[in-house]
Amino acid sequence: MSTLSGKTALVTGASRGIGRASALALAGAGAQVLVHYGRAANEAEAVVSEIRKAGGRAEALAADLAAPDAPHKLARDVRAIVGERLDILVANAGISKAAKIEDTTLEDFDRLFAVNVRAPFFLVQQLLPILGQGGSVIFVSSVVARAVVGQLYAYAATKGAIDTLVKYFAAALGERGIRINAVAPGVVDTDMSNFTKTEAGRNAALGMQALKRIAGPNDIAGVVAFLASDEARWITGDTIRVDGGSKL
Ligand SMILES: NC(=O)c1ccc[n+]([C@@H]2O[C@H](COP(=O)([O-])OP(=O)(O)OC[C@H]3O[C@@H](n4cnc5c(N)ncnc54)[C@H](OP(=O)(O)O)[C@@H]3O)[C@@H](O)[C@H]2O)c1
Repeated sequence: MSTLSGKTALVTGASRGIGRASALALAGAGAQVLVHYGRAANEAEAVVSEIRKAGGRAEALAADLAAPDAPHKLARDVRAIVGERLDILVANAGISKAAKIEDTTLEDFDRLFAVNVRAPFFLVQQLLPILGQGGSVIFVSSVVARAVVGQLYAYAATKGAIDTLVKYFAAALGERGIRINAVAPGVVDTDMSNFTKTEAGRNAALGMQALKRIAGPNDIAGVVAFLASDEARWITGDTIRVDGGSKL
């Protein structure tokens, strides 16, 4: 299916995990994809090669989203490639850290909010001039924003902030024809997820899910591609749970 042919997309954190799968899904649907990465240049180039081999268009773009000026720089680089029109932004890049309340440091707290909240906020701001009618922004939230899972206090708060921004941005940008949504995965087997690395972790994940298997990045990417497409044209301001029925 080429539901996104002629569209341009930026996926942050597309070198690995959910971002990589989303970039491949958008490219598979026909979009030209800008594959953003932080440090994993080789992995990002591998995603670009995979897209090109399948006949698609892709470029890799680096930016450390913990840096205050990174969204501005990334937006400039995006404009240099796509010109005056970006159709899809998947703000996926993120970091997580579990810690007891007593052990959470200021440095960890600030870094979590810098990468997971400040960067996507200012990336939307900086890309607004080239996001227009029919544009779709997809944030990546998490089940932990609405249900308590482990000791993820600061991380969970970043995802709560994302769910709030989804509503505020959607309300503000609807009149420009831009839709803003989020997907909220449960446990997904990626480098980030401790839950999938041990039997105890996997059992804990399965114990809180209605569906009894561990999700892979593709389970999330299909919903990202759907939200980016015209099929989702009447959905905005929503955070869609994509979590196998976690913590029902
Ligand atoms: N895995 C889960 O169970 C799960 C569940 C719910 C929500 N999520 C959310 O899903 C999103 C993707 O997570 P994932 O599991 O796919 O994680 P992952 O495999 O660890 O990948 C994280 C991606 O984010 C990028 N990134 C991290 N810090 C960055 C920085 N400072 N600057 C630029 N890029 C940075 C990484 O780029 P480089 O490697 O190039 O540095 C990488 O591409 C995150 O927002 C996460 O919170 C994950």
